[in-house]
Amino acid sequence: MTTPHINAPRDAFAATCLLPGDPLRAKFIAETFLEDVTCVTSVRNMLGFTGHYKGQPISVMGTGMGMPSCVLYSTELMEFYGVQRLVRVGSCGAVEPSLRLNDIVIAHAASTDSNMNRKHFAGMDYSAAASPRLLQRVLNYVDQQKANVAVGQIFSTDNFYSAPVEQLKLLQAMGIIAVEMEAAGLYAAAAKYKAQALTVLTVSDSLVTDEHLDAAAREAGFSQMIELTLDALVS
Ligand code: HPA
Repeated sequence: MTTPHINAPRDAFAATCLLPGDPLRAKFIAETFLEDVTCVTSVRNMLGFTGHYKGQPISVMGTGMGMPSCVLYSTELMEFYGVQRLVRVGSCGAVEPSLRLNDIVIAHAASTDSNMNRKHFAGMDYSAAASPRLLQRVLNYVDQQKANVAVGQIFSTDNFYSAPVEQLKLLQAMGIIAVEMEAAGLYAAAAKYKAQALTVLTVSDSLVTDEHLDAAAREAGFSQMIELTLDALVS
């Protein structure tokens, strides 16, 4: 049996799965960093791969953009395919003025303007947080490598184009360092399935300076983040 959106055999995924939004990023990660790679699913071109990194089994699968899409794929990965560690790897817009393009951001928690988690939580505000042990593992590795990484609270928005100046000021006042579109949903879904989740991002845009990376520069920063994340996961 397969799921509605993943046409892989039940044992096709490793316990640890990287989750980029873009399926072509999943392909890029699989081809660039993994060995013995198999493409395990391609429904709607949402590509998923399983291979090995430094001898350890790792999967990587696109999730699409936004919380509904990310939660759909991560739920099927957890519920039907037994994935236990889900690491979103993506890009974000900087809210914290000291962040520079290409900086790496790790989200220990995610606020949101989405209603998704409230619907699962009887209208109450769910505290969408990364799994402490997974966060600790990655931060231990980051510290050991003396890598330059910002750790903080991010904001998962439903609307890429709704960042008025007043909202930027409010996010800054509440200590939010970056904006993206998936983490809050992923963290709540992982909690529901007793899985571990984390979000690692590179800064592709700055809401403060209105700078944006072009496609080639995005790829270079992205690769550095992926290598750091994979090394931390197998450390
Ligand atoms: N807003 C929301 N999500 C994003 C952004 C942004 O500016 N940049 C990359 N992902």
